[in-house]
Amino acid sequence: VPGTILVTGASAGIGRAVAKRFLAGGWNVALLARRQALLDQVAQGNDTALALACDVADEAGVDTAFASTLARFGRLDVLFNNAGVFPPAATIDEVALADWQRALDVNLTGMFLAARAAFRAMRHQTPRGGRIINNGSISAHVPRPGSVCYTATKHAVTGLTKALSLDGRAHDIACGQIDIGNARTELLEAHVARLRAADPAAEEPPTIDVALVADAVWNMAQLPLSANVQFMTLMATRMPYIGRG
Ligand SMILES: NC(=O)c1ccc[n+]([C@@H]2O[C@H](COP(=O)([O-])OP(=O)(O)OC[C@H]3O[C@@H](n4cnc5c(N)ncnc54)[C@H](OP(=O)(O)O)[C@@H]3O)[C@@H](O)[C@H]2O)c1
Repeated sequence: VPGTILVTGASAGIGRAVAKRFLAGGWNVALLARRQALLDQVAQGNDTALALACDVADEAGVDTAFASTLARFGRLDVLFNNAGVFPPAATIDEVALADWQRALDVNLTGMFLAARAAFRAMRHQTPRGGRIINNGSISAHVPRPGSVCYTATKHAVTGLTKALSLDGRAHDIACGQIDIGNARTELLEAHVARLRAADPAAEEPPTIDVALVADAVWNMAQLPLSANVQFMTLMATRMPYIGRG
């Protein structure tokens, strides 16, 4: 087996595509998300898959999931730190504290908990080291309108990536970030549906297939630990991001 990866948010969207890509490549894949039935579907027919139903914001749940992964596969080579939510669009004056806190719990504390468990395992295993790939976003750089919670969490993910890259050096732990723009997933479909509801004449946004994201994460993971893709921006060519307008 070429390696072991744990994917958070593996029940749908980008995480599911990445999990399937690594299963197809012969890796051991630990699948983490809340919806057990969907994880079982991804795992079905693969004896190198391990489905672990868990909320990434639950400290004990995350630690148990990592312990199960290490017990089953013996080590952890890569964490794809991906689970995330996109709260409904609103300006800050209309954001309930509970919505802000839930975004922080999943998109930031969840990534912290998974990265902490991965870092611990990678630092102390033999051979030492591993790779953490955080899923940022174009929103780690520039916001969409009405996305204060999401944008704040994704900017914070960039800080997490940089700090782990620095602290990981001494332990052969590489940490990089993929920043995606408009991959077709449930998260994006929900966003487009909301745009449509607000403006039925709204144009369809340009999107990319999640399989392209899965290939990009696969390529990041193929590097030796002495090399790292620190940041990769993978986006629909025609979406607004670079420059004005
Ligand atoms: N799609 C895009 O264009 C795009 C662009 C930039 C960044 N991203 C980022 O990519 C990541 C995945 O997004 P996606 O588009 O694939 O979204 P998605 O299709 O909605 O999938 C989200 C995944 O995260 C999991 N998840 C959500 N809350 C969770 C929790 N509390 N605990 C455990 N798992 C949880 C979901 O599983 P359960 O519901 O089963 O728990 C699901 O597997 C997010 O971090 C998002 O910010 C996406």
